[in-house]
Amino acid sequence: MISKRTIEKVFETARVEEIIGDFVQLKKSGSNYKGLSPFTEERTPSFMVSPAKQIWKDFSSGKGGTVITFLMEHEQYTYPEAIKYIANKYNIEVEETERTPQQISEDNEKESLFLVSDFAKNYFKKNLFEEEGKTIALSYLNERKFKKNIIEKFEMGYSVKIKDDFSKAAVDAGYKLNFLEKTGLTIVKDSENIDRFRGRVIFPIKSMSGRILGFGGRILGSSNNLAKYINSPESLIYQKSKVLYGIFESKQSIVKNDNCFLVEGYTDVIKMHQCGISNVVASSGTALTENQIRLINRLTKNITVVFDGDAAGSRAALRGIDLILGQGMNVKICNLPENDDPDSFVSDRSLKEVESYLVENSKDFIVYKASLLLSDTQNDPVKKAGVIRDMVESISKISDQIKRELYIKECSSIMDISEQVLYSTLAQIVKKDFNNLKKIPRKEYEPISIIKTDKDKNQVDELYELERKIIEILILYGNDSIDYKEEVFSENSDGDTDIKTKNRSVKVFEKIYMDLHTDEMEFSNEDFKNIYYQIIESFNENKEINVDKFINELSEKQQQVVANLVMDNEKYYLHDWEKNNIYPKSKKDSIAQLTVETILNFRCYLIDKKVDGFKEQANTEQINNGNLEEVVNYSKLKKLLSDKLNRVL
Ligand code: CTP
Ligand code: MN
Repeated sequence: MISKRTIEKVFETARVEEIIGDFVQLKKSGSNYKGLSPFTEERTPSFMVSPAKQIWKDFSSGKGGTVITFLMEHEQYTYPEAIKYIANKYNIEVEETERTPQQISEDNEKESLFLVSDFAKNYFKKNLFEEEGKTIALSYLNERKFKKNIIEKFEMGYSVKIKDDFSKAAVDAGYKLNFLEKTGLTIVKDSENIDRFRGRVIFPIKSMSGRILGFGGRILGSSNNLAKYINSPESLIYQKSKVLYGIFESKQSIVKNDNCFLVEGYTDVIKMHQCGISNVVASSGTALTENQIRLINRLTKNITVVFDGDAAGSRAALRGIDLILGQGMNVKICNLPENDDPDSFVSDRSLKEVESYLVENSKDFIVYKASLLLSDTQNDPVKKAGVIRDMVESISKISDQIKRELYIKECSSIMDISEQVLYSTLAQIVKKDFNNLKKIPRKEYEPISIIKTDKDKNQVDELYELERKIIEILILYGNDSIDYKEEVFSENSDGDTDIKTKNRSVKVFEKIYMDLHTDEMEFSNEDFKNIYYQIIESFNENKEINVDKFINELSEKQQQVVANLVMDNEKYYLHDWEKNNIYPKSKKDSIAQLTVETILNFRCYLIDKKVDGFKEQANTEQINNGNLEEVVNYSKLKKLLSDKLNRVL
């Protein structure tokens, strides 16, 4: 964690016009600066920076914010990365706090692996333009029509044939063999050091922010006994399921074009860049993973899968579709002509030709699936039924109800089958999915990057998530009416307590406000607390909230929190309910259940904390009867709440 002091220093020192000036050419215009939007392709400047207010606004894309949000938007940095970037620019020392010894040693080790990888990248780069590299590797790349500027852009390199040339150089430069081995750059065998990538062209694999995570190495030409490509083994810094080749070089273009082309290989990415299409990444030959899709999801909601023009390519493309749909993204598929991969396809074509081919041949997934699957089945009715099920399977992964309906309509007309039949198939699949869902833990929700200061990270996250959930429910459903059962306690003539249930109908925001208020529950996160009161006030005054208006009342940091909540499409937990909703439940019931459950969870959490607090007190201080009694009371309450939770779950 970065210390608060460092963050304050960064905010004091950073000048928005200086930081942005490194990325956008700015011209003075009155008291502001103006420039061309870095987020869109525009000819007349509509990007403004205000040195007085220390903010920026891009009128063509509608984005705007602080210097931090700029770095997060433009460079796709996380919050800590943005802070570190600025600290580095202004020579501010970054203080870290609250790291356990284990974290420190892990961070140190990671840092060492990064350093050694960076050294390797530079070493291989140099090799490519010297002696052996020049005569055999560079000439091989030239033969394959890689231009010098693109080789430099992707920082390609070469590892010479001498078996320990690199390892020796690295050790001589002071890098520990241990780290060379852990990154896989060196294979240590019988006390012999062997360069893993010797005799290969090197493709450095980078993170979103440009750090070297690992390498791919290709043999020159072809061979019967050597693998064409080898890659870095898994390590603390390289996990192949979490990287996408080209993401660093392509991220800005992906944002600008609001689309990402997904290809299979290193050379496909590079050649497409060379041809002039720079919004492209590769899964590097492995099946697409959820983590990889999540990386793209930070940049755009639209993916166009471009796979090789052979049957294997098509099948690989089909597997990825459902995963992409499952993350609320839109998928198109583009098939290349037979025997082409993107590399070969762009090689003898102009940018115009390639672009128009991509536009004309990118098909929405449903059309693509239909055509591909139908060509296999001809007129066999049994097979056709299988195809339909397969298509509905994909549709079931879409959580947006409206989109789902549109696809059902489309599927119905393509396959010439009634919508009703499709809906009942959909219901079957969803029901099955829902049952499976119950068995696996809920999907993890990516927390918004906010510096946390508490010691116990897991506990902080849980509380943070609960508070965030409440805010999200308020923003999305605050004004919806829900019905719920209220327990009313009354004393009967025998002096016993009677519990009756009474149906009540209230607005979601009223329910949340009443519950939190009655139990004196407060948000611990200052931003959430502030946002919460703004929302409640806004509802009370206007009977509804208009996000545009209410967001302006907040601080910039809180604006960002709300913007993230509003714009984040993946509301997994409500979708869990909505999946259930096809038959028995109305949306109203789902929201009611979600609201009640979330508040109960929040309560349970706070009670747990209270009990823990008392217990700690009891350990350190003398146990006093008052405390003990409270613990007992809270435990009882906790039990009651848990029972309730089980009932609603
Ligand atoms: N790949 C791999 N190991 C292999 C073969 C392939 O890791 N033995 C990965 C590489 O990332 C490669 C991708 O799968 O870029 C696609 O493989 P392929 O289509 O066979 O290679 P190309 O990308 O076409 O490479 P080239 O044009 O250099 O032959
Ligand atoms: Mn190829």
